Amino acid sequence: MKSTLLYEGKAKKVYFVEGDSEKLILSYKDDATAFNGKKKSVFPGKGKLNNEISAAIFEYLQDQGISSHFVQKLNETEQLVYQTEIIPLEVVVRNIAAGSITRRLPIEEKTVFPKPLVEFYYKSDIWDDPLINDDHACILTGLSLHELKEIKDNALKINDQLRKLFAGINLTLVDFKLEFGKRKNTIILADEISPDTCRLWDKDTMEPLDKDVFRKGTGNLLEVYQELLNRLEAIR
Ligand code: C5P
Repeated sequence: MKSTLLYEGKAKKVYFVEGDSEKLILSYKDDATAFNGKKKSVFPGKGKLNNEISAAIFEYLQDQGISSHFVQKLNETEQLVYQTEIIPLEVVVRNIAAGSITRRLPIEEKTVFPKPLVEFYYKSDIWDDPLINDDHACILTGLSLHELKEIKDNALKINDQLRKLFAGINLTLVDFKLEFGKRKNTIILADEISPDTCRLWDKDTMEPLDKDVFRKGTGNLLEVYQELLNRLEAIR
């Protein structure tokens, strides 16, 4: 089924599908990177965990009426997705201050925002994924302001759904990153949603169940990703 490699990113490989030009196969790698690839490590089994977690989250979102590129999980590390023309934006939604916003602005970590914040970053390794405003985003992507608003509204809707999902497993959704793609002229959710791309804090202990344990060197990545998967499976 899998044919030639289309693209290899930091956390996934993307393959063409033999005889089906509409779909692609995402293969989750065991590599972990942080700070735009400046910190790297390999965790055998991470690819399997993120494939399962991301598939479970996309299935949940589809049940809530959020359309995405996700078709189905194929095996331990691979999933089938619709091919999209990826929009080079990282769309970050923040409910609570953590990470880069606390380094860029005088906002203390754990500050709860009165309403969720949506930020756009231009997806470019050589430019170090700079934070951009709506007008920059339109120039850099060719999207209209109307399409950009559609992405923002969609990101906020996804935030509402994800907050509900994670609250049900005793987790606070602090922030997360989404990517969108165009398929047949429609903008849909793409890429992955996993502990690599979200900050999730246990509601009782405030301990993270996400990639911050690797970024900060404060915990065992495989253990916390497995704990997240166990909680998601318990409510399926
Ligand atoms: O680094 P920062 O604090 O801006 O990250 C905000 C959120 O976006 C975090 O959940 C982080 O995991 C996610 N993110 C990501 N990929 C990036 C940058 C941020 O998944 N390249």
